[in-house]
Amino acid sequence: MMEGLKHNWQIVKYNGLKIYYLPALDGGGRDFVHDYQKLVKQLFGKVDKVCEFASGCGFIGFSLLASGLCQKLCLIDVNPQAIKCCIKTIKSNGLKNVTAYVCDVFDKIPKDAKWDLVVGNPPHFNGTLKEYQRNKILIDPGWRIHKEFYKGISRFLSNKGSVLLVENFKGSSPKIWQKIINKNHLSFVKTILPKRNFLQKFKEIIRIIYSLKWQDFKNAFSFYKTRQRKIKNYKILTQMFSPHYYVWSKKNI
Ligand SMILES: C[S@@+](CC[C@H](N)C(=O)[O-])C[C@H]1O[C@@H](n2cnc3c(N)ncnc32)[C@H](O)[C@@H]1O
Repeated sequence: MMEGLKHNWQIVKYNGLKIYYLPALDGGGRDFVHDYQKLVKQLFGKVDKVCEFASGCGFIGFSLLASGLCQKLCLIDVNPQAIKCCIKTIKSNGLKNVTAYVCDVFDKIPKDAKWDLVVGNPPHFNGTLKEYQRNKILIDPGWRIHKEFYKGISRFLSNKGSVLLVENFKGSSPKIWQKIINKNHLSFVKTILPKRNFLQKFKEIIRIIYSLKWQDFKNAFSFYKTRQRKIKNYKILTQMFSPHYYVWSKKNI
């Protein structure tokens, strides 16, 4: 039994592969599975080795494997319970092509590891160390995790390797990543806004209505009130209802 967590296993299935997870470890990755499948197919086709960084229970990585978009998978998370969860999925499905590491960023990754594509849904909000210690799903203290990730990733990427991380407009702007990426032997390719079908939009709106804060209402109100700032406010409104974006970067060769 995992320390501190009840054995409340949930299962989600992708193409017959059963992914085990615990609600307490769920960082929302299931919401991005559809986007990742589409984007990986469009941008890279089938790849050999994928790493899911900050994997939690590995929804994104396992679903890419299940749909045949990669051959081998490596999962990384700082939380030993998340990695135990991944190992349960690996064993239950008899997977021989998946490895999983408990790591603070890359500190336990073998030096010769190489990946063609790194995906992930890292913590999306800047905060203090204290906040991070309380919530490792949401908080990246002083962007330490992102900075160490982009500093270290180049040596693990194959020559044409890419990184595609999902981020949140409510916590960051693409400019922050562009600066960090370009400093670290990588090229910033572009940010990608996911396209949503009607059902996905509907689900997203319901989820957002439940999570709205007073400041969000104020932003929406100022959109109608201030004509001069219409374009800026329109951006705020769109970002409020579709806050995620993908950051694509590539290894410099
Ligand atoms: C937003 S959650 C995403 C979890 C999972 N990928 C999902 O989408 O459900 C962020 C994940 O980052 C992990 N994390 C936090 N700090 C980390 C670090 N220093 N190194 C690696 N992973 C870390 C957390 O344990 C958590 O599982």
